[in-house]
Amino acid sequence: MSMDVRDLGGRPVIIGAGIAGLMTALQLAPEPVLLLSRSPLGADASSMWAQGGLAASLGDDDDPALHLSDTLAAGDGLCDAQAARRIVYAAPAAIEYLARFGVRFDRTPAGALRLGLEAAHTRRRIVHARGDGSGREVMRALIAAVGSTPTIAVIEGFEARRLAMEDGRIAGVLASGPTGPAFLATARVVLATGGIGGLFHDSTNPLGSCGQGLALAAHAGAVLADLEFIQFHPTALDGPGRPMPLISEAVRGEGAVIVDETGRRFLDGVRGAELAPRDIVARAVWKHLADGHRVFLNVRERPGPEFARQFPTIASACKKAGIDPVRDLMPIRPAQHYHMGGVAVDGSGRTSVTGLWACGEVASTGLHGANRLASNSLTEAVVCARWVAESIAGTPAHRTKPAIASDRPSPDPTTVRPLLSRALGVLRDGEALKAAARALLPPAERKDAASDPAAVGLMIAIAALRRRESRGAHYRTDFPHHAAVARRSEITLEAALAAARELAPVLEGVT
Ligand code: SIN
Repeated sequence: MSMDVRDLGGRPVIIGAGIAGLMTALQLAPEPVLLLSRSPLGADASSMWAQGGLAASLGDDDDPALHLSDTLAAGDGLCDAQAARRIVYAAPAAIEYLARFGVRFDRTPAGALRLGLEAAHTRRRIVHARGDGSGREVMRALIAAVGSTPTIAVIEGFEARRLAMEDGRIAGVLASGPTGPAFLATARVVLATGGIGGLFHDSTNPLGSCGQGLALAAHAGAVLADLEFIQFHPTALDGPGRPMPLISEAVRGEGAVIVDETGRRFLDGVRGAELAPRDIVARAVWKHLADGHRVFLNVRERPGPEFARQFPTIASACKKAGIDPVRDLMPIRPAQHYHMGGVAVDGSGRTSVTGLWACGEVASTGLHGANRLASNSLTEAVVCARWVAESIAGTPAHRTKPAIASDRPSPDPTTVRPLLSRALGVLRDGEALKAAARALLPPAERKDAASDPAAVGLMIAIAALRRRESRGAHYRTDFPHHAAVARRSEITLEAALAAARELAPVLEGVT
């Protein structure tokens, strides 16, 4: 059966119901809005799994200028300083705003917000909720707020498959769900679809996060930015389970150390040691594993017996894995965790396509540069949702023509995952990137279940191939140094396909 929503009465459609999508919907109220979620609200949003909280300069010893300088330093020369300034200066108000929505942040006995430390922050400025259950608590409060906002209509179980275009602007969303295909006629769409972890074998993200928002934007002709910058978290719990359970950086903020099988703290010589920027720690762990060592997180002394109380989610993952953190070392390895790149947006979240906005991990605002500072992303989602909503509210809705709803296969990244995992990991090189691009081209050009994941992987591989330097999370063993000038990158699907086609003859020995 097909469902044609011929007239949404000019409502904008938000695709994705993590923190970015829910906040955008709430900020738009009382303007009517349609929120499209492929699962029951919250069920597969990576926001739900966020352990680390929200970074904001709230301490007496802190200042937004310090938060900004930490963000820029971690971003390794690639942040958009203006965008970063605007976001970090708005962060303290965003925390207050969430508290007004009913988010129960962790507080000291005196009632002040309890501030945690994470890597590359020079101050304690991470606001948590329920210890390491920050994302779950924020989602609980926002889902409740959405439920009591009558102007927000929620459609669950439908996945956006393509954006419809008319005269070069957004005209609707082609979606698919249990009752068949649906066409949602609208001139204003917000992508809030999250990240790309499902494209990697080792990831801390829900498996369903496989870059669908990037594919939707790319097929609509949008410009994407900084796609080659993928963050690997150094401390995923190493075991057979996928996705991999995360061991929050906040654990190292409370004094846990990284050791090898001999008990040696091999990060000792690194500036910042366990709390160096995430890309540096991830590379050190990766190299130590590649050298044949085993790597562990040691929480036995610090946080010690307090561990389970402070980090109940991680304690429960350890228990499932048969590890007693107070007695045992926790085996770790780096895992894909966050995508710094995304759909290029301006300060209002507008993409290069008229009628299309993006918010949250799927967007590239320029805040994160080459390496995201821990816990800046939930803050970014909350802050930017407001600006996106203001921009949408100021954009008149015009009527679009209804179209026939047609079905497309649900994206399946199974065949793409090994290619990205091999070529786009912690260490990269030109030959592996070219091989991945060549292998991804045929599925990206087909119209089957692998084609959207392949198109996303292809754009990332070409962006990584073009960046002939190492910077932040993008480390090329064949170009280990910084380029003299840091430049953000841009790519379109068309350009990535063209670049990959040019590579193909090399494989066949023609050139
Ligand atoms: C963590 O808790 O280590 C992750 C926080 C983040 O990724 O921002």
